[in-house]
Amino acid sequence: MYFKTFNFIYNKCMEKMAYIKKTLEKELSSSSHNLEHTMRVHNLALKIASTIEGVDLEVLELASLLHDIARVKEDTNETNDIDHAILGAGMASDVLRTLGYSEELIKKVSHCIRTHRFRGNELPETIEAKILSDADKLDAIGAIGVGRAFMIAGEYGEPLYKEFNLNEYGMNTLKNGKIKNFRDHSPNIEFEIKLRHIPERLYTDEAKRIAEERVRVMEDFFNRLEHEVRGEE
Ligand SMILES: [Fe+2]
Ligand SMILES: [Fe+2]
Repeated sequence: MYFKTFNFIYNKCMEKMAYIKKTLEKELSSSSHNLEHTMRVHNLALKIASTIEGVDLEVLELASLLHDIARVKEDTNETNDIDHAILGAGMASDVLRTLGYSEELIKKVSHCIRTHRFRGNELPETIEAKILSDADKLDAIGAIGVGRAFMIAGEYGEPLYKEFNLNEYGMNTLKNGKIKNFRDHSPNIEFEIKLRHIPERLYTDEAKRIAEERVRVMEDFFNRLEHEVRGEE
């Protein structure tokens, strides 16, 4: 049902889209970074793009569809040495090459994917890369953000709630920003250290506007959660 929302390339080439869909279904089986996340990011990216002139929609759509193609490979890799943004850029390039896209377009899509991740070192330079980065971050906040935080917590066996202590938290991260011990992590800590700060990392005005209400919703939820965890009414 989500693929119904393709507007630009879907109409342009249904066969290519069918191939991309099949590839994504094969690669994306994890619950929080699945095809639904991909399609929400795709739709948000187009929403943001509609407020900005001169965006290359073909690059943006392909990049948003393929941005997490290597996510499951990163998550299921025990050695922690896969960066799904870097690996994904390569995998996406292979898919696009198979479909006969030009090297010029592949380079642009590849840049978007390489620079989309929150904890990455490379920053987005083009407008398409900035929009993808914003759309991906927006899908981590708001009511969806709450839902996804708990889905991820379930995947890693995290507790429902944990008291947040900034000093202790520093001890629980690896150099690449990944969590060392998931039993010491929780959705409310993820909100405090990462998700709450997403608006500071956004590039476009439209994303900043959408983020405001989404962060407020999360703040209310986690305040309420703390309240209930403490046994208050
Ligand atoms: Fe990602
Ligand atoms: Fe993503």
